[in-house]
Amino acid sequence: MWWKTAKLVFDTLLEAESCLQVLDLSENNITGWLSHFKWGSPSCSNTSRKISKSLKSLRVLNLRCNNLQKDDVDCLKYAMVYMPNLEVLNLSENPLQDEGIRNLFPYLVEKSKCETPLAELHLENCELSCDGVSQLLEVLAATNVPLKSLSIGDNHLTRLVPRELEVVKWPGG
Ligand SMILES: *[C@@H]1O[C@H](CO)[C@@H](O)[C@H](O)[C@H]1NC(C)=O
Ligand SMILES: *[C@@H]1O[C@H](CO)[C@@H](O)[C@H](O)[C@H]1NC(C)=O
Ligand SMILES: *[C@@H]1O[C@H](CO)[C@@H](O)[C@H](O)[C@H]1NC(C)=O
Repeated sequence: MWWKTAKLVFDTLLEAESCLQVLDLSENNITGWLSHFKWGSPSCSNTSRKISKSLKSLRVLNLRCNNLQKDDVDCLKYAMVYMPNLEVLNLSENPLQDEGIRNLFPYLVEKSKCETPLAELHLENCELSCDGVSQLLEVLAATNVPLKSLSIGDNHLTRLVPRELEVVKWPGG
């Protein structure tokens, strides 16, 4: 699939108010697929923009190996209002780099204030450095509801994070 097809799939599901719980688009090349959401409202509590349709039952979004870039991550915070109950986000094997992960921070902060916060985040093999991952951990630790599970294996973390640290669990998580 390329981005226009993925956009069509997402828009069609949204338009139909699909009851889908798991959307798996992994192993495609869909960079740009959510760029039309960039003009929405980046908050789950912001009612200034009326949301008429949403994918209310969507809990798992698997975007593994989709050639997603930093701008795609930026669009996620705008798309989140359409996926209010998302709990598992898999962005593994995308060339997000540290800049991409920083674009995810506003999403993580906003999402932690939502009724259904994110529980699992997969960021394996995303070309992250230990600086990016350290900042990510700080942001997560400061959010209202931290993740239950985070995978950050296969990144370049040699300076700070031990190789074994692939799943971080918070108390109570
Ligand atoms: C991925 O898609 C973009 C355009 O959407 C294209 O420029 C790029 O060459 C594609 N990459 C691969 C590996 O197919
Ligand atoms: C809601 O979103 C608008 C832009 O769409 C922004 O100007 C406003 O500050 C936001 N309000 C809150 C409470 O986030
Ligand atoms: C997310 O991707 C990883 C590979 O990076 C895979 O092991 C894992 O099963 C995926 N999780 C989900 C919920 O799809």
